[in-house]
Order: sequence, then structure tokens, then C-alpha cells
Amino acid sequence: MPQSAENFINQLLNQMTTEEKIGQLNQFSASADLSPDLLRQGKIGSLINASGALTGQGFSDSGNAEISNHFQKLALESRLKIPLIFGRDVIHGFRTVFPIPLAQAAAFDPDLAGEAASVAAREATASGIQWTFAPMLDIARDPRWGRVAEGNGEDPFLCSQIAAAVVKGFQGEDLSAPDKMVACAKHYVGYGSAEGGRDYEGGEISEPTLRDVYLPPFRAAIEAGSGTVMSAFIDLNGIPATADRRLLTNVLRGEWGFDGFIVSDWESIKELIPHGIAEDEADAAQLALHAGLDMDMVSGVFLNTLGKSLTDGKISREELDEAALRVLRIKHRAGLFDHPYTDAGRATPDILAPQARTLARKLARESMVLLKNENNLLPLQGFRRILVAGSFIHARAELFGTWTPDGRAEDVTPLDEALRETAPNGMELWFADTPDLALHLAHQVDAVVLLIGEHPSRSGENANVSDLGLPPGQSEFVDAMKEIGKPMTLVIFAGRPLAITRQLSQADAVLYAWHPGIEGAAALGELLFGHEAPSGRLPITFPRATGQVPIYYNQKNSGRPVHPEGQFKTRYIDLLPSPLLPFGFGLAYTQFEYGNLKLSSDVMRGSLEISAGVTNVGARVGVETVQLYVRDLVGSLTRPIRELKGFQSLTLQPGETRRVTFVLREEQLAFTRADGTFGTEPGNFHVWVAPDSQRGLRGEFCL
Ligand code: NOJ
Repeated sequence: MPQSAENFINQLLNQMTTEEKIGQLNQFSASADLSPDLLRQGKIGSLINASGALTGQGFSDSGNAEISNHFQKLALESRLKIPLIFGRDVIHGFRTVFPIPLAQAAAFDPDLAGEAASVAAREATASGIQWTFAPMLDIARDPRWGRVAEGNGEDPFLCSQIAAAVVKGFQGEDLSAPDKMVACAKHYVGYGSAEGGRDYEGGEISEPTLRDVYLPPFRAAIEAGSGTVMSAFIDLNGIPATADRRLLTNVLRGEWGFDGFIVSDWESIKELIPHGIAEDEADAAQLALHAGLDMDMVSGVFLNTLGKSLTDGKISREELDEAALRVLRIKHRAGLFDHPYTDAGRATPDILAPQARTLARKLARESMVLLKNENNLLPLQGFRRILVAGSFIHARAELFGTWTPDGRAEDVTPLDEALRETAPNGMELWFADTPDLALHLAHQVDAVVLLIGEHPSRSGENANVSDLGLPPGQSEFVDAMKEIGKPMTLVIFAGRPLAITRQLSQADAVLYAWHPGIEGAAALGELLFGHEAPSGRLPITFPRATGQVPIYYNQKNSGRPVHPEGQFKTRYIDLLPSPLLPFGFGLAYTQFEYGNLKLSSDVMRGSLEISAGVTNVGARVGVETVQLYVRDLVGSLTRPIRELKGFQSLTLQPGETRRVTFVLREEQLAFTRADGTFGTEPGNFHVWVAPDSQRGLRGEFCL
């Protein structure tokens, strides 16, 4: 931070009373009945949800800026005129809703996710919001957990790449630019390990797994400059994350040099009482502040108790000052002291711009994953009459997914309309939204497309399921349609991997569309009818059945590795041990062959080049995401059977071959070793250039 900025905030701090300092640590929810006096007295540092959407004042965009300007004006009437920072959950787009983060991960294209974040920042800042509670960086190995939709899947490498790109997208080079907003890496940390997939439940993660799997995306976000971090609700290894000094202070600040501020999750400081580590609100507030947490999200316990705790000597002036300074630092970095107000005139050009929609369409297209395509049924061409059926046929806001408070149904072309617009001339589309009608009409068509899956309310915060199968009735619908025997395509909308073992075997083609956002319907049409080709890859393992979770590709080998027939090998007696579909899997409208693996040496000294030829052996143009995996064969601690270390996407014309080259660096082989230190160990490694986490060409080298 430039010296002048540090001087500015230090001088400001010197003028502040204890109450004013505590005020900076207090975030309240903006509602119509919020007392203006609290703002005028400097007792609120931040407001959450100050927009027309949640204050009951309607949906006008300029209105949103006007609402925050209204609150800002009250704050600037305070003695020291310290501006508020307005926070909001801008998770996968603002008004231009992009695919859910899990879907974005399936695009395997961090730059594109970064561009989406940059659009979201432009739209949200035009509405008076300078701080988003994103990116959500929780590694998830259990898709029963509803929040799997909000993260980037199971892999620390992919998630870290996306984390860095998204933070840069939100914040840009200069956080004070009017169209940039402060990012918040959340939920720190281990939130995805909630037992049984039940949100808010505790979890246990060993130190090596915490360091090598759950922490890396956060570290990537901090290295990319994330201004803030949010503590998780979770009780991790017996310490609620909101009170964990080792993680909040020693790791985040001490080891990684984070100089921004940490906000609690919604009332998570107060929740230290039911967690059973704090006796009362004062105790809870002290624990959180001692741990290094700086801002209380809405529970009011900092505001209500820290003054007395200071007088009683329970907290120190230094720790209070430090927390206030961190909040002021980020406000300063965000340019709020110079530009506290939002120009309401920005809403019209900056919100829902045509380029934003184009980007949303591209991302939706790239995120959809083709899981099966028997006899090249897709793209649908040459059919005279097609029946499109299922509860999603008129979907609009149902395409958004979880956490989209600013998306509007009227911005979305309904699915049936979008499909009609993209269908080839001469192809008749019939629609049916009830199974009965669909089964009746199916006899008269040449092929059927069923639009099935989960409503967005079935994923997201606390929307956990105990059964990963399709929602009630859908499996029976697919069974009945299968009986009729027409070529059958399933399009599945979902916020998680569903256990679709039966449907995958029944259908001729399956396209996994996730919750694809505002342009999802048109993107789907473009893929189904072959204007574009699918290229998404699974960012998370698909289990065969709910009882298989947790199942993830980078597991350990065990002493008795997986073997379907081996009685004394790890297995289920009623289910194959392998996943239904592995991490990294996804088909195209063509086929690719890998050959000619080369390593620049069989000994790594600092780095190694690994290359392979990839050929499009099919008849259509296609995009292949080529993946690099390694396995460390012997370690002081057991090592994953594969770890993703790189990926590249190639567009290949029919018959075209290209050589893909990866550079693997020694530091990418580092891990948390048996003695707790982080580094590499000499020995032999396997390396794969692969189409997914189970296949590929294998080479060997030694370090
Ligand atoms: C609770 C959620 O856990 C968090 O992700 C979100 O940012 C806050 N509420 C604010 O809405």
C-alpha cells in the first residue's frame, strides 16, 4: 500500500473515538426502517443488501444507486464523514446472470469466468454496490451439500485458477475505478466438508488435506489481491472458523501477507454461542476479534459489546485499532473517500449491455457438458418433427440457479421460444409440459428431448438433499418415454451432479446444462441444433449412487486399491466402485485421439516439458480440453492417485492434429509432508496427458 494511503488512514484513525472505530466494524442490513441516527453517528461501517430488490422499493436500476446514495449521504453527515461500503451477493452475475459457478468451472476457462466477474462488477457498481461476497471458493466433495452449486467443484488446481481470474475480474488493476468492486474470498475455510452434506454442520479435515486441498484456492485469491475474506459458518476440527485465530491470523495474514479485512458470515459471531465456545455476546465478540475477524455481519454484537469489553480490559486498543485500520484501508483502496456516491446515470449503459449477454451466452454454451451421444444423435439434424417435453419447457428465471437476487425473469427468452428460434428451417418442434401429454404426443414425432432436473431452489444455501437421484416423478417419466422407443435426448438442469446412472443408460444423448443463466436457453438451442459444439468438462465427479459420496478423483490409493471383483479390495458389494463419470470428462460432436507422448527428459531438474499429439478423428470441428495429471508414487505421506496440474483447450478441424505442450514446474509437485513442511520429495512420478482423470497417455519421470 502506498505510504500516502497508509498515512491517510492512520491520521483518520487518530481522530476517531472508540465508538467510531467500533462503528467501522459493524455491518447492518439496509432496510427501510434503519435508524438514520446510527449512520449519522458513525456507528455503521457497511450496509448489506441496500438495493431496491430487498428494501421493497422496486426494481429500478437507477433506484438502486439512489438508495445507496441516500444511505451514503447520511453516513457522510457523520463527524468524520467516513463513507459506507455497500456489500451484496453478486455471485454469478448481477442483472446479467451468468451460469452458476459450478457450471462456469465446467468451461475450464478461467479467463472467461474472469470476464463474467468484470461484467458483474460493472453492473453492480452502477447500482451502488462496491463489495461482492464472491468468489465462493469452497472445495466440495459431497454433492448432497446444496452449496456445491456456488463453488468450482472438487479440484484445488482448477478452483485456484478460477479464483485468481475472478478476483482480478471484480477488482481489476485499480480497485478505485468506478466499475470495479472489492472481492470477498469465502467461506474461509473448509465449509464444503460439512458432515453428511448438511449445510452448517461441522467438519473435520486433516492438516495436510486442509493445506493441499481446501486452502489453495483462498491463497490464489489472496495472491490475486482479494480485498476481503469471509469466515465460514463451519465448526472445523472443533473450532468454529469465525473464531479460529490460527487460520484467520497466522495463516491468512502471517503466512500469506493478507492486508485486507475479514468479515464474518451472517450472524456467525453471535453463533459462537450455540456452537458452545462463547458464553454470551460479549464473549463471542471478543473471541472473534482476538481471532483476527474485523467486521460483524448484521448480528450487532461488535457494536453492542466491544466498547465495554475495552473498558473492562477484555480486548486491547491495539486490536481494535488494527481491525478499524483494515476496514479503512480497503475503503480507501476502493476509492470511496474520493467517490462515495454512485452516478445513477451509469445504470442505462452499464447494465444488461448487449456484450454482457453475448458473454453470458458463450459461457453458458461452454459450460454445458455432453455426457453421452449414441450414434451421433446430437446435433439434432434431419428430423422432421421433435417433441420437447418436461417441466423446464417454459423456463425463464428457473435457468438462473441459486443466489440471483438481481436477475429478472423478464430478461430471459423462455426456453420454448429460444429453441424455436434456433431450430433449423423445416424442423417442427412440439412442446408438452406434462408427462401425460408428452407420452401421448411422442408417438407422432421422430425424436424426443426431455428437459428435466432440479429447480434452482433445490440447490444453494442449505438446500441439501439426502438423495442425489432426479426429483420425484422424473425418473418414471424417462422410463415411460423410453418404452415408446423414440431417439431420446435428456437435457438436465441442475445445481449439482445428480446420480443419473439409470437415465444415462436409457437415453441416446445426455447434455448436462446445470443452471445456465440468462442466455442459457439460446445457448442450449445452439448446441442441440449444431450451430455450436459442446466443449464443457466435469469439474466434479459424478457418483453412480448417493451412497458413493464422498467420491472424488484425487483420492488416495489405499493398501487395497479399488478392484471390482476383488473380495479384499476396497469396494461395495452392491455397486461398482468407480464413479459414473470421472472428473474432467466431457464429449464433443467429434472424437479425439491422443498419441506420441514426449517428455523433454526422464529426470526433472526445475521443470519438464510434456507434450502429446491430439487429432480430431471425427467429421466435425471440435474443442478438446487436454488435461495434465501427475502422481507422486512414493511419499512421506500417502499421495493422491492423480492430481490435475494443467489444462489447455484446442479447437481442431476434422483430421487436424496438434501437439500440446505443458511445462510442469518442480514447485507444482510440492505438498505438505509428514513433518508438516511444504516441499517436494525426490522419487518417481507418473504423468498423463489425458482427456479426463481416468484415461490418457502415461509417461514417467523422476525428481
Ligand atoms: C450467508 C451466506 O453463507 C453467505 O455466503 C452470504 O454472502 C451471506 N449470507 C450474505 O448474504
